[in-house]
Order: sequence, then C-alpha cells, then structure tokens
Amino acid sequence: MLQVASIALMQRTKSIRDIELKDKKILIRVDFNVPMDKDFNISDDTRMREALPTINYCIDNDAKSIILVSHLGRPKGKDSAFSLKHILKRLERLLDKNVSFADSIDSAITLQKTLPKGSVILLENIRFYEGEEKNSRELSEKLASLCDVYVSDAFGTSHRAHASTYGVAEYAKEKVAGLLLKKEIDSFAKALANPLQPVLLIVGGAKVSSKLELLVNILDVVDKIIIGGAMSNTFLKAIGYNMQKSLTEDALIEDALKILHLAKTKNVKIYLPVDVVSTDDVKEHKNIKITPAQDVPEGYMAVDMGPATTKLFTEVIHSSQTIIWNGPLGVYEISQFSRGTFNIARAISDTYAFSLIGGGDTADAIDKAGERDNMSFISTGGGASLELLEGKILPAFEVLDKK
Ligand code: 3PG
Repeated sequence: MLQVASIALMQRTKSIRDIELKDKKILIRVDFNVPMDKDFNISDDTRMREALPTINYCIDNDAKSIILVSHLGRPKGKDSAFSLKHILKRLERLLDKNVSFADSIDSAITLQKTLPKGSVILLENIRFYEGEEKNSRELSEKLASLCDVYVSDAFGTSHRAHASTYGVAEYAKEKVAGLLLKKEIDSFAKALANPLQPVLLIVGGAKVSSKLELLVNILDVVDKIIIGGAMSNTFLKAIGYNMQKSLTEDALIEDALKILHLAKTKNVKIYLPVDVVSTDDVKEHKNIKITPAQDVPEGYMAVDMGPATTKLFTEVIHSSQTIIWNGPLGVYEISQFSRGTFNIARAISDTYAFSLIGGGDTADAIDKAGERDNMSFISTGGGASLELLEGKILPAFEVLDKK
C-alpha cells in the first residue's frame, strides 16, 4: 500500500515541538490563500485560523521574530489585487497582536533588526517574486537568510515544490513542520494507514481525469467507493447508459471500465447513482426531472443524485467506520441541485465514523450544509489532500528534518 509507506515517512518529520525556539528568528510558510469577494472581504478565514496555533507557539516559546510567508492566488507579476495587505487586519484581529507588513524581503530584514522581540512580520505575496514558482536558488537562499528555523505549515500548498515550500529548506539551518502540517498528516494517517474498517471513499467533482490516479491507487486501502457528481456520468456511460447532454469524459470510458474491473478483482464494492436529477438548462433550471440513471430524458443533463441514490448511499455510509470524502456530488452551488450533496453531509454527520474531508469545494459544500462541526477532520488542502490520498510524498514534507 503506497499510502501507508509514504504517510509513515511524512510522520517522521520533526516539528516545532522537537526543537528549541528561544531567541531564534523563525520563518513560517503559511497558506493564507483565502477566498475573498471583489471588495477584498474574506469569505472564509479557516486557513488563517488554522495557522494560529503555530504562530502563537513560536511567540509563547520566546522566538526572537516571526516572519510569515504566503502566496495569495495566482498573480502574474506584482498585482495589487493579490496583495497580502488585504488580509493584514484580519490577521491582527485573529492574533490579537500588531503585525508589521513587509512589502519586500529587504524591508523584512530591516524590520527584523528594528522591531522588539516576539514581533510578527507578514511578507508580501511571495508569488510576486518570479523565482517562487520556479523554485529559484536565489530566492530560496534569500528566504533562508531571514531565519534560524524554517517552519513549514502551509499544508494547502505542500504539494508544490516552490522556493518558499521546498527550495528554502535546503539552505535553512533547521527545518521543521508546524502544528497544522502535523495535524493534517496525523489525520490522514488515521484514515489511511491504520483505519477502522470498513473504509469508504466518497468521490465526486466534475472530472474523472483529475481523480484517475486516486481511484486506482486507493483500491488497496478502501472497502467501498461511492462515485457521484459529474464524474459518475462517465462511469454510467461506460456501463452502457445514455447520459444524453450530461457532462462526460468520453476519452476516459475505457479507464472507467478498467477501474470497475480492477475494483472487482480487489473485492472493493463500487456504488454509482441509481437515479438522477436532470435539467435541460443548468442556469435557468426551469425544467427539472428525476429519473432512473439509465433514463435521462433527451436533451437533459444529470446535475444531482436522485432520492433513491441518497437512500442507497446513506445505507453505505451508515455501515462504514472510516469515511474519506473528496469532491461534491452535484451542482451544489445551485440550491435545486444541492440536495444530494447536503444529504450526504448529513448522513455522514449522523454516524460515529471517523470522517476525513478533502478541502476546497467539499469543505465549502459541507459548510453550506451546516455540517462543518460534525465532521471529524476537514483538511485545509484540496490539491494537497488529493495527492496524499494518491499515495504521494508531498514535497514540503520531503525536505524537512526527520526524527
Ligand atoms: C490552494 O488553494 O489549493 C493552495 O493555496 C495552493 O494554491 P495553488 O493551487 O495556486 O498552488
């Protein structure tokens, strides 16, 4: 099992609890890539709140200075719309402390020299530097020169081998995981390395292509898989159903069949929708029909699971001890098509199973269903959690000191 070996390796990473921080300059790579509206109001500050324990731990353990490094969005060069200044006030409020803003690494160096002990500095969006995504040696060395200890705590970006998540560690004296990184890997270990059985994977979202590796690699870990969302259309088409105008990936029909076959040989039960909610126009959605999955009306597209499927999936959920969920199960952003996804969130919250939720859209859907507090663990990473489930060793862990 790929996942067991790679997670065991990542769990060996040293954390800030294993080293002395007193009077040291700390650089923490955080993931403050938070969603904002057009007026820069933060709509979900979970990632910032999840970074607080590590920052506070450094303050409480008498660190000399703390520099926070993050990206925000995917800017093309310096673009003020992507400035981390937009999150400064919220950070100060959450930390209950003044935070100095450094618009460049050079100004961070000056601030480090002038500010009192225990000060927190937020560096401008690291993606404003060309070398960040190229993992340039120059930027990596410059970042490392800011600190005695490099702390990796940006789980959401831990699958990127960038200068601030990867390259910097080569030049830092000590490089350790923050408390969020630890919490994430320990939760994934609970679901993948030593899970309570039976283990269920619920997978959704638009594309089979983005989950192909996951579906193949996870067959050794799970007992059952529920496939929903638009990606289930490709599987339903593969078994011979006419999905009409539904979103499908025709080039992946063969792969879908291979996965169904492989699952059978490994004794993993796969569940697909048995009925669907469909419409002839997703935006207008004036005409909505519920039919068996094989009877989608001509000119219609499946956009949610039907009530019989909800019942079936709920039974599968209630007979599982570990539940891993990645990807929404319908067009949940539109209330008429959110019922399936929301009912599944409720079904999970009714169990005593350990539930681990992949970040991004799935977390958003669970929030909208009002079930956030009833999940065992919601990851702060979307892409990163997917790569962990696929069994990969994440670059940000790879470069840290080991115990
Ligand atoms: C995310 O939101 O998934 C992380 O912050 C990573 O962002 P990226 O996909 O732009 O690297």
